[in-house]
Amino acid sequence: MEIVVSGIRSTGQLHLGNYFGAVKNFVRMQHEHPCYFFIANYHALTTHPEPASLRASVRQVLVEYLACGIDPEKAVVYLQSDLPEIPELYMLLNMHAYVGELEKVPTFKDKVRKQPNNVNAGLLTYPVLMTADVIIHKASRVPVGKDQEQHLEMARNFVNRFNHFYGVDYFPEPYPYNFGQELVKVPGLDGSGKMGKSEGNAIYLSDDPAVIRKKIMRAVTDTGPTEPNSPVSEPVNNLFTLLSLVAAPERVDFYKAAYADCSIRYGDLKKELAEEVLSFVAPIQERIREISADDAYIRKVLTEGAEKARLSSSKTLREVREIMGF
Ligand code: TRP
Repeated sequence: MEIVVSGIRSTGQLHLGNYFGAVKNFVRMQHEHPCYFFIANYHALTTHPEPASLRASVRQVLVEYLACGIDPEKAVVYLQSDLPEIPELYMLLNMHAYVGELEKVPTFKDKVRKQPNNVNAGLLTYPVLMTADVIIHKASRVPVGKDQEQHLEMARNFVNRFNHFYGVDYFPEPYPYNFGQELVKVPGLDGSGKMGKSEGNAIYLSDDPAVIRKKIMRAVTDTGPTEPNSPVSEPVNNLFTLLSLVAAPERVDFYKAAYADCSIRYGDLKKELAEEVLSFVAPIQERIREISADDAYIRKVLTEGAEKARLSSSKTLREVREIMGF
């Protein structure tokens, strides 16, 4: 049985794009594999968050994932910082990671460009820490998006180097977990591309209803079809796609037909989309409120998660130390 590990960025709340992407995958995988899901709060330190805001965002992200259906009875859910074996393995792996190869990583070069006065060593060794996260459980599957594939390639390099150097076949190579065709691309509200935090075109799961309505009513469209059966522009098609995610298929067909015969009114489409999104997120928001109010439950999830995760991480570290000659 292949072991799955994924790290969750502790910054940023979940938007619909995350929901229909990563989160749905996680929820599905937890039934099919042994899964370890953790909040990557050490990685967050590369941008120097205030302690209070780090704590608050870690809590919020955890609550939102639980509200979306990550089940701590099925998957092992924990904080990266609750596993002391991760930083120890990271330190050991650093001895086999070369500055030259780390400097070449595109995400590192990006950061150097974007934050030239905070090029810290943690940023340079980010892929080493990420490797430790994954191989501490000897995982071979990592559900991540395209932007993380480079990091996983580094992880495979580090794993192969370790196995080769110590003459063992200890760590499996970690590969991205790919649902391929089944992955829905959730478009944003700005007429092009996908929904994303940095794009500023996102609907967040915890947005107020008034905010959601406003965002959708302001979504980019076009001037409308002028002759029957004209091709649908990207911005309008994006609204159809969003509607298809949250409403019955007949409602999408209805608006497509209205587009085809030029009777469509984008205002109506948007109003309906907004109401459908609101009914879709309402139960999630309700669970977010419930879980968020229950400190004891959150503490229990994290305590039990850390305990379960440490069964595996302490075993790996013991074996690694042995292999390395300690
Ligand atoms: N780097 C990942 C991201 O930005 C988060 C992450 C940290 C991660 N450690 C991981 C993902 C280990 C998968 C496995 O999204």
